[in-house]
Amino acid sequence: MAFVVTENCIKCKYTDCVDVCPVDCFHEGPNFLVIDPDECIDCTLCEPECPAHAIYSEDEVPAGMEEFIQLNAELSKSWPTISEVKSALPDADEWKDQPGKRQYLER
Ligand code: SF4
Ligand code: F3S
Repeated sequence: MAFVVTENCIKCKYTDCVDVCPVDCFHEGPNFLVIDPDECIDCTLCEPECPAHAIYSEDEVPAGMEEFIQLNAELSKSWPTISEVKSALPDADEWKDQPGKRQYLER
């Protein structure tokens, strides 16, 4: 079991989550973060930190977001680790909670 970053992180990338992760298992892409399921220790600390409520336990990923379980596993192997907070993307507040952001995921 691991925690999973889902669609609402796309185009936001607030990065509050990385500040609390004790094992630095977040990895950064152009406009999205993922969690390496092989490194996540299920501590639950990141979930409440995300202003976009994008993080879920693998067994609580909302219906329709199941694809993100595989995306986190896959992309975390090629994207670099991020362990320090940085500025959110410029239009993060406008994009937060917008539906249908999956199409904008950049690799
Ligand atoms: Fe890191 Fe804990 Fe979140 Fe897993 S649950 S990504 S170990 S903060
Ligand atoms: Fe993304 Fe939320 Fe972290 S928007 S970068 S999962 S704080």
